[in-house]
Amino acid sequence: MHILTSTTALLAIPGAAAQLNQLAKAAGKLYFGSATDNNELSDSAYVKILKDSNMFGQITPGNGQKWQYTESSQGSFSYDSGDEIVNFAKTNNQIVRCHTLVWYSQLPSWVSDGSWSTSQLTSVVNTHIANEVGHYKGKCYSWDVVNEALNEDGTYRDNVFYKVLGESYIPLAFKVAAAADSSAKLYYNDYNIEGTGSKQAAAAKIVKLVKDAGAKIDGVGMQAHLIVGSIPSQSSLESAIKSYLSAGATEVAYTELDIRFSSLPASDSGLKQQADDYTTVTKACLANKACVGITIWDYTDKYSWIPSVFNGAGAALLWDENLKQKPAYTAVSSVLKAAATKSAVSDTATVTTLSTAIKPTATADACAVAKYGQCGGKGFSGCTACAAGASCAATNDYYSQCV
Ligand code: XIL
Repeated sequence: MHILTSTTALLAIPGAAAQLNQLAKAAGKLYFGSATDNNELSDSAYVKILKDSNMFGQITPGNGQKWQYTESSQGSFSYDSGDEIVNFAKTNNQIVRCHTLVWYSQLPSWVSDGSWSTSQLTSVVNTHIANEVGHYKGKCYSWDVVNEALNEDGTYRDNVFYKVLGESYIPLAFKVAAAADSSAKLYYNDYNIEGTGSKQAAAAKIVKLVKDAGAKIDGVGMQAHLIVGSIPSQSSLESAIKSYLSAGATEVAYTELDIRFSSLPASDSGLKQQADDYTTVTKACLANKACVGITIWDYTDKYSWIPSVFNGAGAALLWDENLKQKPAYTAVSSVLKAAATKSAVSDTATVTTLSTAIKPTATADACAVAKYGQCGGKGFSGCTACAAGASCAATNDYYSQCV
């Protein structure tokens, strides 16, 4: 009771507002994260926010781990760009979602334009994944193993992998990834699978396909590149999450969240709608324990990928181009804070997690991390004891979890 009172009081202090990752963890999630990119790391004002692990507990390299950069010519591997981001995260005690291994886009032409036999392309996929996952072994909380394999109607995208190997390239990729790093969580990742529909149903089938082939798949990543005012309803979002769990996934995440305006500039009422839409997605994740976290696809409109790809669209993120927090930031922060406070009231174990998240110096003997919370890992300075019924297990060098 004493802890509850002081924690709630702390959360309520204006100006000492808890930040997104702290709040997400206090609400029972593993992280709130952001994607970033190499060229952005020279912007010191940008980095100051990105490196704050109270704000972002997780980082995704926006480009550096893609095939185009890691194996631009056959058999010649380079990890400089990816390493820079992974090292940045490590320095700042942030976990990494590694992204991505098998994708039709940003794929070098030696792969996409090759005329392959099945055994040749199998070997190419094998070599690429074994090498890259091997390089990052122990450093990735998760891997997006296969990215965007589906068309909008739920049929398979006719990429080089599908053309040569059929759907079997998907379980193949998961098998090779699992063999190269048995502790990374392995994800299928795609967009327009956040709400129910043909593509979501097909993504659930992919989970089953991989499992039926005897391969390991842990999660489904819902990219969530959404449009202000036309996102799926919260119940549709929640049903989609449940469909992936029913198909055999043990977790899901929003992996690339941004909610764009189709035309600019955004009006005040538009910004309010955007805040409501971010609230809906955050609530859908909070509603299911298996939704482990939310990653925004960079945190500021200054570095969003949207304007370069969707003509005239933009302003999709939580911070504006001048690194000023937008109404959507306040909305996400409030909904996480409400969930954190609620779980503190309803669960004494979580009260202690909340207290630990806010005050990382809490002493070990006065703490107990709730199930699924972080309890250890390199650089972790929080509580290392688990609440009754859970024990602390290492996921990788950087992340131990109460399970
Ligand atoms: C985007 C990057 O943000 C851009 O910098 C790049 O030019 C293109 O790719 N789905 C994905 C991400 O899985 O890898 C994409 O990232 C956005 C869509």
